[in-house]
Amino acid sequence: MKTILITGGAGFIGSHVVRLFVNKYPEYNIVNLDKLTYAGNLDNLRDIENKPNYTFVKADIVDFPSILSIFEQYKPDGVIHLAAESHVDRSIDNPDEFVFTNVIGTVNLLNAARAIWKGNMEGKKFHHISTDEVFGSLGETGFFTEDTGYDPRSPYSAAKASSDHFVKAYFHTFDLPTVITNCSNNYGAYHFPEKLIPLMINNIIQKKPLPVYGEGLNVRDWLYVEDHASAIELVFSKGKVGETYNVGGNNEWKNIDLVKLLCSIMDSKLGRESGESEQLITYVKDRAGHDLRYAIDSSKIQNELGWKPSLTFEEGLEKTVDWYLSNQEWLNNITSGDYLNYYKDMYENR
Ligand code: NAD
Ligand code: DAU
Repeated sequence: MKTILITGGAGFIGSHVVRLFVNKYPEYNIVNLDKLTYAGNLDNLRDIENKPNYTFVKADIVDFPSILSIFEQYKPDGVIHLAAESHVDRSIDNPDEFVFTNVIGTVNLLNAARAIWKGNMEGKKFHHISTDEVFGSLGETGFFTEDTGYDPRSPYSAAKASSDHFVKAYFHTFDLPTVITNCSNNYGAYHFPEKLIPLMINNIIQKKPLPVYGEGLNVRDWLYVEDHASAIELVFSKGKVGETYNVGGNNEWKNIDLVKLLCSIMDSKLGRESGESEQLITYVKDRAGHDLRYAIDSSKIQNELGWKPSLTFEEGLEKTVDWYLSNQEWLNNITSGDYLNYYKDMYENR
């Protein structure tokens, strides 16, 4: 019997990773450790919460004594670390929280793993989930590879880059069996509606303005979240200790083209006239330090571990839109309350 501790499992990507492990490995104990910040939501896991191999523990990774006692209690054989402050705009408003959770929280988990695995690292693995944003911003051409130098530009990516460096340092200094994946932009079900795709879907449903930053020319490489979860499962199971793997969709979109595509899909799903939702597009002040382009070269994970995305972007986007249209209660629960206040402040300050 193995115990796998997954941090941030009540968030967007974490909930897909927890679901995959709980369903695929009934013989493992899957422990989901999450603080339930504004972004954590146990509704994301209703379908698996009563499975006998699933346990939820509410805890803050910044609080080392409680993290250590959870590690001592559950004695995980593996850690998959997703817990983080994840939204770039919030990191511009309040960088401190990103340093606490993303840097100190990660170091706390490394220390807890080191404490309980000391002298017996056999069969253990600490998998840190990171982002392509640590590599900075690309021009019109080129791709991020595993050898690209780190050049983070936002407080979010600076904190994630710092956490990656600590993970690598613990591998080199203490022989902690670590592995890192750096992934591009995810989309899919349970994506918190502050991020581009679910925010636009929600606003199109509600006929609210669609805020496009700057001229909408920034490029992101989109990957369906279940394909990221499958990459994580593969690297956790078969990835070489001490290595990093890039994960991406080879699927670049300018923001404005993506928003227009969403408008046209939603117009047809909602029985609206073609072109109706596009009229909601509103160009707003650009994000400070807005990275121009991200694009991932994922040939290493494809060639060495045999991973490849399972869905085309058209299939993934259609599934995503359908999920949001059939789960409007999930969306409404989130978009009432504090969420709206945050956005009110943000747009008034732009
Ligand atoms: P999310 O914001 O949806 O979820 C984060 C989760 O972490 C939430 O459940 C939250 O409650 C939990 N959390 C936050 N602070 C915590 C703390 N101090 N202690 C314990 N739990 C805490 O994030 P996401 O989009 O699912 O991203 C998950 C991970 O993947 C992050 O590490 C992020 O950097 C990385 N990542 C995200 C993307 C993406 O496109 N979303 C792409 C690449 C990498
Ligand atoms: O690349 C991986 C990263 O992708 C992850 O590490 C982050 O956790 C995740 O949030 C995401 O970061 P981005 O900043 O790329 O995602 P976001 O959805 O915030 O924005 C996507 C693009 O859309 C970006 O160029 C900014 C733009 N944008 C975003 C919002 C929320 C808009 O034009 N309007 C908006 O309202």
